[in-house]
Amino acid sequence: MKKFWVLAGILVIAMCALTPRSGAQQKERKDAAGHEWFNHAVFYEIYPRSFADSNGDGVGDLKGITSKLDYLQHLGVDAIWITPCFPSPQVDFGYDVSDYEAIDPMYGTLDDFDELVAKAKTHNIKIILDFVPNHTSDQHKWFLESKSSKTNPKRDWYIWRDGKPNGQPPNNWTSTFGGSTWTLDPTTGQYYYHYFYAQQPDLNWRNPEVRKAMLDCMRFWYKRGVAGFRLDAVDTLFEDPDLKDNPLLPGLDKFGFPNEHEIYNKKLPEVHDVMRDMRKLADEYNAVLIGETWTANVSELRDYYGEKNDELQMPMDLMLTQFPKLSAPLFREHITALEDAGGWPVFVISNHDIVRSYTRWGDGKNDDQIAKLAATMYMLLRGTPIMYYGEEIGMENNDPKRKEDVQDPQGRRGWPKEIGRDGERTPMQWNDRPNAGFTTGKPWLPVAPNYKTHNVATESKNPDSILNLYRKIIGLRGSEPALREGKYIALNGDDANVLAFARQDIRGSSVIVVLNMSDSPQSVKLEMSKVAAPSARATTLVAVGAKSSAEVMGTISLEPYGVYVAKVDSRLR
Ligand code: GLC
Repeated sequence: MKKFWVLAGILVIAMCALTPRSGAQQKERKDAAGHEWFNHAVFYEIYPRSFADSNGDGVGDLKGITSKLDYLQHLGVDAIWITPCFPSPQVDFGYDVSDYEAIDPMYGTLDDFDELVAKAKTHNIKIILDFVPNHTSDQHKWFLESKSSKTNPKRDWYIWRDGKPNGQPPNNWTSTFGGSTWTLDPTTGQYYYHYFYAQQPDLNWRNPEVRKAMLDCMRFWYKRGVAGFRLDAVDTLFEDPDLKDNPLLPGLDKFGFPNEHEIYNKKLPEVHDVMRDMRKLADEYNAVLIGETWTANVSELRDYYGEKNDELQMPMDLMLTQFPKLSAPLFREHITALEDAGGWPVFVISNHDIVRSYTRWGDGKNDDQIAKLAATMYMLLRGTPIMYYGEEIGMENNDPKRKEDVQDPQGRRGWPKEIGRDGERTPMQWNDRPNAGFTTGKPWLPVAPNYKTHNVATESKNPDSILNLYRKIIGLRGSEPALREGKYIALNGDDANVLAFARQDIRGSSVIVVLNMSDSPQSVKLEMSKVAAPSARATTLVAVGAKSSAEVMGTISLEPYGVYVAKVDSRLR
């Protein structure tokens, strides 16, 4: 009998652990400021093809990721976002999903995935998957059914239309990957819509069955222990049902088609209904939703949090990635706009679609120093940073030089104006041995030339490396209360070269961050009256190419792109 009660007890505990959290339980997970784990986490994006190859086929895999968990934990990463690792014909390298509830054999098995989740947990690392709601692969069984006949029950799961009487596509919309968004399917003589490649037909989110099926796919992964999703291309979920032509803009795009103002096939208001549905489900599992939210300005970004904060907890601010170079006034203005808008910022400086920040912001002379400055900025601003693998060692873009070497179809189609995204997707640089230690086989993309100097093994040994700067700065996010919840205070707002700010917690402890965004030496006297009493003293936390007189009110001298961070234990005036 006693045994029975012990067993019953164990069962109840196990059921509680598996049952989705109730609203009350979720609230308990919030801190005094109403924040949850992801507000204080450091996220790390992994492009699985390129991170670590465990079986020598030249392509990374899940076991490879599992083998690097110690490294990620030591770096200070709290969550990894893995770009799509589901079965896929790999036309868009995984963003053309042919089965949402399995793992592509190229990356391993569901067992490998479960092992990754379990081992990551022992490293205090959460797993975020990439969910592609806008489109499936044209090889997905749903699309194969849909295209089979006009009367197939799944016909309306995608967007099918007749062409114009002259045989032309239904309207003038052009794909972001080149050409018309419409492809004629000979089986039924109708066109189907695809915002991206023809092999990526758009789902019809106005069909309730599609909504249900897609939410079920998300649930499948929540039950397997994922802590959330990065949502792909959410701007493009809906299209105008009347298919009105987009107004044309001057000039041609990189593929030679007229530029358009995409008002009828992007950012339609219905997107927000879907975000709310996804959020409701995420809340059942205490999960986080990160959005690939390409916005023109901060106010558009604000909309993605939801009027009642009931949409995405983490819409990505991708605007910083569009700043062509470092500029104190430009960055200051953007950060001020973010702060004024409210919401918890989500900073991104590179990803698998964007030229790496090392190459984009580098000047060819001070590249490592610039990488350190960029790291300090986005790790210490108020918000959550999402790193891109290799950023922490200063990986550079390695763009293809010849069209025949290009893997990304976009680059083959648009060459030479559009060279594709291979350059930012090259293998992770683990050491200075052949293939940078990424694979024992032939890597699917060539390793970037700087791997001899910029790799994990070499940089781990050098206290002044970019990698060790990242480790230190990430550590400060954990050890300094002001960097956790502290408010942002802009300092020296008129300085054309130096971006300076303080983070200050409610008890008055502050961290000041001073970044010389110019290629000439600068010396600054900070407006410390905004932060501390005149007698307050500063303790240097990080000084790279920077010096300060011991008193915080003193002058800080910065070399080109110098970085200075100090703690100020202050009594406020
Ligand atoms: C997103 C992904 C990109 C992909 C596209 C289509 O922008 O980041 O890599 O090609 O969606 O799925």
